[in-house]
Amino acid sequence: MGTQTNGPLESLDQWDDDVRARYRADRKKEEFRVYDDTTPQVVRDFYKQNHALQTLEFARAKRAEYEPLQKAEMGIWEAMERLNELVDDSDPDTDLSQIQHNLQTAEAIRADGHPRWFVLTGFIHDLGKVLTMWGEPQWAVVGDTFPVGCRWSDKIVYPQYFDANPDSQNPELMTRYGVYDEQCGLDNVNLSWGHDEYLYHVTKKYLPEEAQCMIRYHSWYSAHRELDYQFLMSDHDMQMMDWVRKFNPYDLYSKSAVKPDFDTLKPYYDDLISEFFPKTIKW
Ligand SMILES: [Fe+2]
Ligand SMILES: [Fe+2]
Repeated sequence: MGTQTNGPLESLDQWDDDVRARYRADRKKEEFRVYDDTTPQVVRDFYKQNHALQTLEFARAKRAEYEPLQKAEMGIWEAMERLNELVDDSDPDTDLSQIQHNLQTAEAIRADGHPRWFVLTGFIHDLGKVLTMWGEPQWAVVGDTFPVGCRWSDKIVYPQYFDANPDSQNPELMTRYGVYDEQCGLDNVNLSWGHDEYLYHVTKKYLPEEAQCMIRYHSWYSAHRELDYQFLMSDHDMQMMDWVRKFNPYDLYSKSAVKPDFDTLKPYYDDLISEFFPKTIKW
């Protein structure tokens, strides 16, 4: 199994690694969106697919398909284990890499003394990648997210690949606001479909609003990093984006040489998960 067959990336991790490289701490701001020969061809091919295929119609259809949460009933740990198998089973060297990334993100948040809901958010933030379980291709699971239904920001990576997106042929969708109104509020805006939007719907009723925003918008780099799209946000959304920005460094920079010991930490996370979630939830 694995995700080899449904996209150019060797594994879903490759996209996360690419984002980490793009925003690495010593990189100058103007270099963020410079894509050169150092970007692996498979990553460029991935963005080509993602930008060509994420249309307004597609995002709406996927939301309608997944929002009723009728795909599965499972606990947080089970999802974590399934994800690990799905993402990593083709590569013996990255054993437990998904759990490790979640654990390292959460441990870095905990080390900085943030509240328990924030630590939990770090621990679960990528669980939406279980979308691969239902056969979703890579371009519909990972990748930077962006609003669909209005003109794309040139601050999205590889904006030129949007030329192949059918929405580019629809003038109504290619204005600044497209199908939206100025400052209409992000709840009314459709983002491209992927693990962020999906996990938001799965977990929203169990988590505080700040956590929901961190989960929902963590891959929306053109907004939380490049500060574009503020014309779609309400004042309240703008405040919430500060939380997304607070979360982002833990996602990008918490990769540590020393792996947190899973067995030692498991009781803490057992407790944390059961504080917020029932034994099983709907997916
Ligand atoms: Fe993610
Ligand atoms: Fe992540």
